[in-house]
Amino acid sequence: MGQLSHTRLRCFCVVSTALVALLAYYVYIPLPANISDPWKLMLLDATFRSAQQLSQLIQYVGLSHHLIALNFIIVSFGKKSAWSSPNVQITDTNFDGVEVRVFEGFPKAKEPLKSGIVYIHGGGWALASARISYYDELCSKMAEELNAVIVSIEYRLVPKVHFPEQLYDLDRATKYFLQPQILEKYSVDPERIAISGDSAGGNLAAALGQQFCKDESFRNKIKLQALIYPVLQALDFNTPSYQQNMNSPILPRHVMIRYWIDYLKGNQDFVPAMVVNNHTSLDVEHAATLRSRLNWLSLLPASITKDYKPVMQTVGNTRIVQELPQLLDVRSAPLIADQEVLQNLPKTYILTCEHDVLRDDGIMYVKRLESAGVDVTHDHFEDAFHGCMIFTSWPTNFSVGIRTRDSYIKWLKQNL
Ligand SMILES: *[C@@H]1O[C@H](CO)[C@@H](O)[C@H](O)[C@H]1NC(C)=O
Ligand SMILES: *[C@@H]1O[C@H](CO)[C@@H](O)[C@H](O)[C@H]1NC(C)=O
Repeated sequence: MGQLSHTRLRCFCVVSTALVALLAYYVYIPLPANISDPWKLMLLDATFRSAQQLSQLIQYVGLSHHLIALNFIIVSFGKKSAWSSPNVQITDTNFDGVEVRVFEGFPKAKEPLKSGIVYIHGGGWALASARISYYDELCSKMAEELNAVIVSIEYRLVPKVHFPEQLYDLDRATKYFLQPQILEKYSVDPERIAISGDSAGGNLAAALGQQFCKDESFRNKIKLQALIYPVLQALDFNTPSYQQNMNSPILPRHVMIRYWIDYLKGNQDFVPAMVVNNHTSLDVEHAATLRSRLNWLSLLPASITKDYKPVMQTVGNTRIVQELPQLLDVRSAPLIADQEVLQNLPKTYILTCEHDVLRDDGIMYVKRLESAGVDVTHDHFEDAFHGCMIFTSWPTNFSVGIRTRDSYIKWLKQNL
């Protein structure tokens, strides 16, 4: 080997070591010791982060809105067309103009009627689809295991539509499904219908549940609600779980705040102020009124608030809630509903993850529902991260993904 190729080789080694180091730096995030499958989670998070950054770049060069670009990446990777297995029939159709994917389990036993579940997928009100493999597989599994009909609603997303349009889509499709002749068509027992959703879908399911129970003619049509790591409030981005998990994978705090702002069609410049709770400071009239009705931090158990320092600003930024009053609208933040509304809610299941900014949203809602006399099952997973329940298949299979999904389905089996 000549002098030149030696130099080249050395050069190659230096460059590749640098690249590996850079990649490792990019992929590596410190994770709690007990979290499920940490290395796999780092890779999943790094993949999601790079897709987010690529989408930001696409927006920066003016090609498309970053959320449209990101959703395009997600959907093109994971799209699954309607298919049928010996155990489940899957059909794409529309309910009163709203697209839905319907999963019908074939009865194993000779049971005449099936249960029905309206499912609302997550994705920050802006991402994912009933038709990507993650949700398709979840709903197929549910249809099969529960001998149920699952209506997974393909509601319109941000930035095409904003709050409360998503809720209008869900309301229309659900009311269509609940009509006696439609239930009959699908062989669904009108006495065994649930609403469910994960993450932003859990937010929408909770809001829809409240709307239905305010309405005399729908109040008794929903037997159960099941909320998976739901988003429930925008009052406080410094709850103990927001503080502990501000940099946690999949859903760091600033990303959650961005989803909120986009959902409500607000200005992203508000993010830094909202990180420090300047939007609900003591001088914000609307927030002060709410605080006098609901001391949300008192809803958390002492084991969580033990060494906790709440972030409550005396003076903040009154412009944020003026421009975005929807931040404190019960339809976007179901946690703040009146007790009279909560007490009419059906039996409820809430799943929370320890390593999730939204953990305390869920815990606070459990507490409020219990106080209102609702029968609540709280299912908490110590090694879980936000979004885990859909990650059950190789290569993104997580032990906690399978355990959360099975626990959720088991509760439905016992209660629906
Ligand atoms: C929060 O509000 C205070 C008072 O208006 C202001 O001094 C501070 O800079 C704000 N913080 C952020 C991060 O916007
Ligand atoms: C994921 O699936 C692969 C292949 O089926 C399996 O070998 C592996 O143990 C699974 N990992 C987890 C965490 O479940």
